[in-house]
Amino acid sequence: MNHYDYIIVGSGIAGLYIALLAIKQGSVLILTKGNIDDCNTKYAQGGIAVAMSKDDSPELHFKDTMAAGDGLCDAEAVRILTEEGAECIADLIRFGVPFDTLNGEITLTREAAHSTPRIIHAGGDATGEHIELSLSQQVRSSSIKILEDCLASEILVEGNKVKGVKSLDCRTGLVEEYSCQFLILATGGVGRLFKYSTNSDVVTGDGVALAFKAGAGISDMEFFQFHPTVLRLPGVAPFLISEAVRGEGGILRNVEGYRFMPNYVAEAELAARDIVARSTVYEMRKTGSDRVFLDVTHLPPRLITTRFPHIYRFCLAHGLDITRGLIPVAPAAHYLMGGVKVNTWGETNISGLFAAGETACTGVHGANRLASNSLLESVVFGKRVAERTTAPCHKESGVESQESRSQDSRLKTQD
Ligand code: SIN
Repeated sequence: MNHYDYIIVGSGIAGLYIALLAIKQGSVLILTKGNIDDCNTKYAQGGIAVAMSKDDSPELHFKDTMAAGDGLCDAEAVRILTEEGAECIADLIRFGVPFDTLNGEITLTREAAHSTPRIIHAGGDATGEHIELSLSQQVRSSSIKILEDCLASEILVEGNKVKGVKSLDCRTGLVEEYSCQFLILATGGVGRLFKYSTNSDVVTGDGVALAFKAGAGISDMEFFQFHPTVLRLPGVAPFLISEAVRGEGGILRNVEGYRFMPNYVAEAELAARDIVARSTVYEMRKTGSDRVFLDVTHLPPRLITTRFPHIYRFCLAHGLDITRGLIPVAPAAHYLMGGVKVNTWGETNISGLFAAGETACTGVHGANRLASNSLLESVVFGKRVAERTTAPCHKESGVESQESRSQDSRLKTQD
C-alpha cells in the first residue's frame, strides 16, 4: 500500500489550501475524481467576506453571520470564522491570488445581509477562478502528489482510527488502497443532486456518503441553500448571477415588471439569501411564471462591465446585453450548510478523519449561510486542520487542549 502522511480527497479551495500548508509537515496526496480544477470553487463569483476595513470589525461580521443563520449557528465556530480570517487571506495573497485593489488597497464590496462592505474579490466577479488557478498552480509546482480522475470509494477504518482510503482510477478501472495518518475530506457539497444547480458536475455528495459509510457523524443535512438569482434562459445551463449584483444596486422585478422585494421585507433585495429566494418563489407562483428578472439597466454600463465582466460576457454570448435588458433569473440549488460533523479543528468522531469546506458541517452557517462566508470557512477551518495535525499537538487518541476537549464533547452530544 502506498503511504502518505496526509491524503486529501477533493481539490477545491479547502483541499488545495490544506495541501499547501500540510506539505510543510509531511507527505501529501490529493485524490480528485476529475481534473484538479473541477470543483465549485472555480464558479464562486462574489468573493470572500472578511472584516478588513476601518468601519468594520469581527464583531460586526459575527453579528451578521449569526443573524443570517436564523439562530442556529454555532457561536464559538462563528467567533473563530470572523476572527481568524485575515491571516488566511494573507496566505492566499502569498500563494498568488490577485485580489482586486484600488490605490494599493484591497477593494471591498457589499453583498446582501452584510451590514457593511466587506467582500474582497478577484477579477471582478471571477474570484473563485483566480483562487482555484493560483492554488492549483502552487500545488503543481510543489512535491504534493496529485491523482486526477481518481474516485475515493471507501474510507478504511480500524478500531475507530482512519487507516487509509480505497480509490478507483476512472481511466483504468483499477482500485488501489492508500494508507495515511490523516484523511481529509474536501469534496464539496451535494448541489448536483438537484435539477437546477449552480454547482460543478462533480459535486455529488461523495465526502458525505464516504464519511457516513465509515461511521462518521453527519449533521444538518436539511439545511440546503438556494441562490435567488441564477440565470434562467431556455437552452442555457444554470449560471450564477452573483449576489454582488444586488449589492451594487440590482433590483428584482416580477414578469409584469413590478419590483416586488419591498413588499416582503424592509431590506428588499439586500435581505438574507433565503428570504430573497423564498420571496422570489412566492412571486413566481403568484404570477404563474418560472422566472423573475434582475434589473441593472439603471446602473452605469461601465460599472457593470468592469465590476461583473464574467457575467456581462456570459450573458452577451447568449444574446443578452444586461446593460440594456432584464436578466431572467430563478432560484437554484447552491450550497449545503450541513455535512460531515466536525469540531472547530475539523475533526470528525473517527480519529484521523477530518473534513473541510462545504463537505464539513462546522456549524458556522446555521440554517442559512451568509453570502461569501463559504470560501472564508474553507481557509479558516482548513488552516486549523493543518495546525491540529502538526506532530507535537496531535495524539492518536485525539485531543490535548481544554478547547479541544470541549469540542470533542460537542461531537458526541450533538445529533
Ligand atoms: C455569489 O456570488 O452570489 C455567490 C457567493 C456565495 O455563494 O457566497
